[in-house]
Amino acid sequence: MEKLLEIKNLKTYFYQDDSVIKAVDDVSLFIGKNSILGVVGESGCGKTMTALSIGRLMPGAGCKIVSGSIKFSGRELLELSKEDLRKIRGKEISYVFQEPATSLNPVLNIKEQIEEVVRLHRKDIKENLIHDFIVKQLETVGINQAGVKVFAYPHQLSGGEKQRVMIAMAVISNPLLLIADEPTTALDVTIQAQILELILKLKEKLCLSVMFISHDLNVVGQISDYICVMYAGQVVEFSPAEDLLEDPNHPYTQGLFNCLQAFNEKGKEKLNEIPGEVPKSGDFPKGCRFHPRCSKKFGRCENEMPPLFIRNKTREVRCWLYLSS
Ligand SMILES: Nc1ncnc2c1ncn2[C@@H]1O[C@H](COP(=O)(O)OP(=O)(O)O)[C@@H](O)[C@H]1O
Ligand SMILES: [Mg+2]
Repeated sequence: MEKLLEIKNLKTYFYQDDSVIKAVDDVSLFIGKNSILGVVGESGCGKTMTALSIGRLMPGAGCKIVSGSIKFSGRELLELSKEDLRKIRGKEISYVFQEPATSLNPVLNIKEQIEEVVRLHRKDIKENLIHDFIVKQLETVGINQAGVKVFAYPHQLSGGEKQRVMIAMAVISNPLLLIADEPTTALDVTIQAQILELILKLKEKLCLSVMFISHDLNVVGQISDYICVMYAGQVVEFSPAEDLLEDPNHPYTQGLFNCLQAFNEKGKEKLNEIPGEVPKSGDFPKGCRFHPRCSKKFGRCENEMPPLFIRNKTREVRCWLYLSS
């Protein structure tokens, strides 16, 4: 598979008074061209910080990319000047976040907001054609009555419509990579399914690569070509989606999987099958970071951090159980 983005050994830390929070701690992953990578893990595992690091969107001065490499379409993003990176961000790489309500400006109507993006990134579109272009973009992302809704203000749209508008704005520049961080988490299940369908459609239509982040393996499983499972700032499993869903290797992935099974069999009641919680980023346990919650742990797990073991050439698992495989 031809790679569009490749992250190697990325470390992004928060430096606070006298502590260091290792939000992203040696993450390596790649995203293929015209391919969807799902990134999954419980809250606090470092998914958002990995995504923000790609665009060097550090939330605050105490947050720094400490080391690593992020190669995007032949360029090393960590070596680009701020100016050059700004040209890539929003154009070749664009973001969609969980809360469309907070990303949209409440005092501008949809047309006015999208116009700003068109003027910035689509200088090829003539002034007198912008209105029709915007309506067409809204139709493409599945907004009904786009000719009317284009004049609506954010509060007049449903949650699903707002997220569609955000997605429309994100793809106006014809990006190579769309980073969608929990884009369906705030939506109910039916709307969630429609947004997944939309992202799949846009991927094909625009030949997009997508980094799709969710805490929900069920959602990620529906949309991904590859899946990256994160735990405590690290990648614990990286695999073609089909293989991972058929045979999850890491005990943490198996735990996420069991949550799904329990969810499916018992209907609405979601059971947390993984005891305990994600350790705080300033205070990781010695050895494997998952060992305090792992039912398969043995002596070595408590003392030594497992490396990523490569299995069948395409799968990676950070677990001592796979030492000899
Ligand atoms: N603004 C911040 N200040 C300090 N620590 C943060 C901040 N944002 C995130 N973190 C820490 O970084 C870790 C990873 O966070 P995040 O990437 O948001 O996780 P996820 O998206 O997987 O829920 C968390 O443990 C969190 O404590
Ligand atoms: Mg997050």
